[in-house]
Amino acid sequence: MSDTLKNLDKNYVLNTYARNYVNFTTGSNATLKDNTNKDYIDFTSGIGVVSVGHGNKQVADAIYKQVNNITHMSNLYAIEPQAMLAKKLQELSGYDMATFFSNSGAEANEGAIKIARKYGETRFDNKRYKVITLAHSFHGRTITTVKATGQEKMHTPNFSPYPDGFSYNKHIEDIYNSIDEETVAVMLELVQGEGGVQPFEKSEIQKLAKFLKEKGLLLIVDEVQTGVYRTGEFLASNLYEIEPDIITLAKGLGGGVPIGAVMTTHKDIFSPGDHGSTFGGNFLSTRASLEVLDILEVQHNSGKIKEATEYFQTKLTALFNKNQAIFNKEVGLGLMRGLRVKDVETLSAIVNSAFEEGVLVLKAGKNTLRFLPPLTITKAEIDSGFTRLENAISKI
Ligand SMILES: Cc1ncc(COP(=O)(O)O)c(C=O)c1O
Repeated sequence: MSDTLKNLDKNYVLNTYARNYVNFTTGSNATLKDNTNKDYIDFTSGIGVVSVGHGNKQVADAIYKQVNNITHMSNLYAIEPQAMLAKKLQELSGYDMATFFSNSGAEANEGAIKIARKYGETRFDNKRYKVITLAHSFHGRTITTVKATGQEKMHTPNFSPYPDGFSYNKHIEDIYNSIDEETVAVMLELVQGEGGVQPFEKSEIQKLAKFLKEKGLLLIVDEVQTGVYRTGEFLASNLYEIEPDIITLAKGLGGGVPIGAVMTTHKDIFSPGDHGSTFGGNFLSTRASLEVLDILEVQHNSGKIKEATEYFQTKLTALFNKNQAIFNKEVGLGLMRGLRVKDVETLSAIVNSAFEEGVLVLKAGKNTLRFLPPLTITKAEIDSGFTRLENAISKI
């Protein structure tokens, strides 16, 4: 085969991403190598997915053992690791919830919206189906979750018509006056990821949660990015000390194996036939996820995630202080961090220069340099990543 990766990709893969044509060939925790043997410190973890690092031996062994027996059967039969994982999610979150497993974050949010709509259809005298979301939110790429996303640029006529029933508020405090007799739920991220690594105020969220509970309306928390220890606790909802009605997860849950989950306190909302998925919750993904959660639970309880977070934060603050002409503000929670950059051009220049220096970083929103390292990142990897980033910044 003489085709380069770039040619292969350009000729055979649909054009949905402005790709960087690096060819990563090996990975170990937060360190990657490409086919020229150049190494990179990964401060992205595949956009918050590889929570336990690249090439995790414990997860690899668990997957190997599982696929050597049964990779997939179907949801027509009970699946032991799926049931165990649902129990584990309840235990780790502390929420008395049952779970449906999907294959992605968008699909988990679709499930959440279906739960809310059935609740709105069956639990009130009048039909309630409207879901309020927030400006700068991101909830996925399916037709419905694109519409749920509070960014006008995502609602392009190319894919219209979109489903009805979504409206957007700029601020949390605007939600109270937007609720009408057809509203059934509010859906939000506690830290807006794609929107700019922007956390909401705890008191504001607690007030909203209490208000919705009193009205019998649902609070859906999209924890696709914030979940699975990303913000320090198992869920950001734990950190905010709220009790949502519905929570969605994906990204870090499978450590790279595609899996999503929608958890709800309304355990009896669905009946057979209401919802389903061929792959969702199969032997492979749920076994992998059980192993990921075992690893992260130990890391969390031993204080290792906190230690890595504090170390990362110290380095980030030092970088911020040293480069006041470039950065305006530090944002984020846990190992979901950002630096607001003074302008878009500088942000792109930093990301590109960082790549050249061998450290991978992300953009979020218009002007945020974003960091989502593996939760298992070592101090040596953090040191190396920040040294490279300093060099990158000095060269722009
Ligand atoms: C908060 C949030 N919700 C939903 C999604 C969509 O998840 P997926 O790409 O797995 O469908 C994302 C992805 O970035 C996200 O950050």
